[in-house]
Amino acid sequence: MRVWYPYTQMLGLAPPIEIVRGRGAWLEAADGRRYLDAISSWWVTLHGHAEPRIADAIARQAAQLEHVILAGFTHRPAEELAERLLPLLPQGLEHLFYSDDGSTAVEVALKMALQYWQQRGQPRRRKLIALEHAYHGDTLGAMAVSARSPFTAAFDWMLPPVERVPSDNLAPLERLLSEQGPRVAALIMEPLLQAAGGMFVQPAEFLRGVHRLCREHGVLLIADEVLTGFGRTGTMFASNGAGDGASPDIVCLSKGLTAGFMPLAATACTEEIFSAFLSSDRRQTLFHGHSFTGNPLGCAAALASLDIFATEPVFERIDAIARHHAARLSRLRSHPLVADVRQAGTVGIIELKQTDSGYLAAIGPRIQSLCLERGVALRPLGSVVYVLPPYCITPDELGGVWDAIEFSLDSIGATTL
Ligand SMILES: Cc1ncc(COP(=O)(O)O)c(C=O)c1O
Repeated sequence: MRVWYPYTQMLGLAPPIEIVRGRGAWLEAADGRRYLDAISSWWVTLHGHAEPRIADAIARQAAQLEHVILAGFTHRPAEELAERLLPLLPQGLEHLFYSDDGSTAVEVALKMALQYWQQRGQPRRRKLIALEHAYHGDTLGAMAVSARSPFTAAFDWMLPPVERVPSDNLAPLERLLSEQGPRVAALIMEPLLQAAGGMFVQPAEFLRGVHRLCREHGVLLIADEVLTGFGRTGTMFASNGAGDGASPDIVCLSKGLTAGFMPLAATACTEEIFSAFLSSDRRQTLFHGHSFTGNPLGCAAALASLDIFATEPVFERIDAIARHHAARLSRLRSHPLVADVRQAGTVGIIELKQTDSGYLAAIGPRIQSLCLERGVALRPLGSVVYVLPPYCITPDELGGVWDAIEFSLDSIGATTL
């Protein structure tokens, strides 16, 4: 095979399914088979695959201006996206720094926070705090703040040290901050839903508590909303869902930013952070950028997606998905193979009883292939199976996804129990 696939053991790999077309919640393969996309591709698709208005917006932009260096030059889609997006974000976020994927949005956030304290005359504030089970991406800085796992194992020795606290208990964070608060630059967290680390759902009170402690100790709060942004947990951003008290200092966005059409990311920050970089000393610049930073096609896609949010009942669709998940999860709760069920808005989660736990648990691939045979695309995280559909999915389609999962559990249960 010429292509080296991500997160994929290439030894003996069966040829992946070639997808030739997408429409709504469906993917169509080269052999004519169709698959219901129950995971929004890589958690990115919002309004459906190949959504015509977004596709048209990208085509129009490509015919006008496909790219321009975003330093010394700018373009209307980048400016307009910042103007329209910032008012939707939690209160106090006033500036947008573009990059191109979730990991880079996180790298930018970490660099912003660390350089901010140096330029505010507090260079001793250089510790970072992250949560257990966190996942923030695969680049080095993002790996450093992610939980240790098979993803990071080969590189653990070279990752900068990070303080780690539980994601279900405020007391250890409180202790850490009271001992080391003046040396801490920032705390990074995935608000309400820790996704790739195992789909752990936190109550809004936990988010509010973290926010309060960060405020008390002058620590910057970075909300990684790469997944939770754009309605995933039921409100436009998870940080909004926790109420005004939870307004972070920095927010990372990607994935749903372009409704899944283009690689684009943004890191939003407060006026206070932005102003720490304003200086006649050019060394106080944020020296960060990527070739495709703020690409016009990505910005055009993001604007078209915001138009859909503005003109269609997207939040009614989101609520309907959440209700549907809740009904199916309450039924599955008592299934003999199910250890726990959880939900965060449009993400319905079941954790299976397993002896081999973690990302490499064998049951995940079994469920995945059983569902695939029934035309449903899933990608369990080890023993954690979740449904994270595009918002355009119909009730019948979503019912079909849960039926396939139930069928798979029943057929595995019949052979193992
Ligand atoms: C919360 C969170 N942050 C960051 C990332 C990394 O994003 P990307 O894969 O676009 O680099 C992910 C990806 O799953 C994520 O879920």
